Amino acid sequence: MKYTKLGNSDLKVSRVCMGCMGFGEAAQGQHGWTLDEEHSREIIKHGLELGVNFYDTAIAYQNGTSEQYVGRALRDFARRDEVVLATKFLPRTREEIEAGVTGQQHIENMLNQSLKNLGMEYVDLYIYHMWDWNTPIEDVLDGLNRQVRAGKARAIGISNCFAWQIAKANAIAEREGWAKFVSIQGHYNLLFREEEREMVPYCNEENIALTPYSALAAGRLARKPGETSNRLEKDAYAKFKYDATKEQDEVIINRVSELAEKRGVSMTEISLAWLLTKVTAPVVGATKFRHVEGAAKAVELELTDEEIAFLEEHYVPHALAGVMAQNRPPKRA
Ligand SMILES: NC(=O)c1ccc[n+]([C@@H]2O[C@H](COP(=O)([O-])OP(=O)(O)OC[C@H]3O[C@@H](n4cnc5c(N)ncnc54)[C@H](OP(=O)(O)O)[C@@H]3O)[C@@H](O)[C@H]2O)c1
Repeated sequence: MKYTKLGNSDLKVSRVCMGCMGFGEAAQGQHGWTLDEEHSREIIKHGLELGVNFYDTAIAYQNGTSEQYVGRALRDFARRDEVVLATKFLPRTREEIEAGVTGQQHIENMLNQSLKNLGMEYVDLYIYHMWDWNTPIEDVLDGLNRQVRAGKARAIGISNCFAWQIAKANAIAEREGWAKFVSIQGHYNLLFREEEREMVPYCNEENIALTPYSALAAGRLARKPGETSNRLEKDAYAKFKYDATKEQDEVIINRVSELAEKRGVSMTEISLAWLLTKVTAPVVGATKFRHVEGAAKAVELELTDEEIAFLEEHYVPHALAGVMAQNRPPKRA
């Protein structure tokens, strides 16, 4: 495994992060394909054995049960200071707004609940999961800064935002002397490269870490078109994100497959090795041993400039999908 610094923070992370959205009680949330605790623990343990020290979960994943499984496994199999644990908080709910819960209070409540779920005293990276258009960014940043000062979060990150949003937030934080976002977890892979327009150059300029999610397009970049899996069948949310562009994406998936055959490696290794030329640490979802192993191997694979160009050649711009398609101000009355 290789390691690097997470942007401007002092966190040292493996070049791949284990995405823990696939762990948790299947009956308790958005995903019916998640692993139970016994099997989740095995995957996490194997990740640690392969040198993966960076783990990404969220309070939203299976109603907090992902955090609970991950927290217990990391407590049992690793030393606290050897791992970098990231979790995320959700926007304020309508009920909270009506009850007068401020953005600052909301963040404190959410982090306290996550720490309870994880059984930890602090998180290494606390991530603003998606832009909350109903809460002033100043309140979010002040709330986060208070948690950093209290020692409950070592650094803060953001997910699902436009470059102007993180730039604005960090400018305010700088002015106020508050903690700044050190990382962005956006949707970025060979099939969805919209981050390259503004976010990637902005982050390179500011030394902000890119830790993209769905690095394998929820599995689509790991197998040939037509091949299927339990998750590909069941994951309705990923279908919603990728089905509209299936035909144009297949051209790229076929190129990944062709290059994998030529280099004698898996498609996962090719897809992730490409992303590793652009970002700090992709967040890769794993529910099987071979998933973790493929991700670890990708870190060692070097692609030539010609191979990179071959993979990129046929990309055409995509419309925003998933959470980012909802990232807009509420309609005026
Ligand atoms: N911030 C956000 O809004 C957000 C949104 C989505 C995800 N995330 C984070 O990102 C993580 C990853 O997201 P994701 O699961 O959607 O995307 P992903 O990493 O693109 O896809 C994971 C899937 O790829 C397949 N796969 C992985 N390694 C493989 C290998 N070596 N060989 C063959 N297939 C392999 C598996 O599919 P099969 O099961 O079909 O084999 C696995 O379920 C999540 O766990 C979560 O932590 C964050």
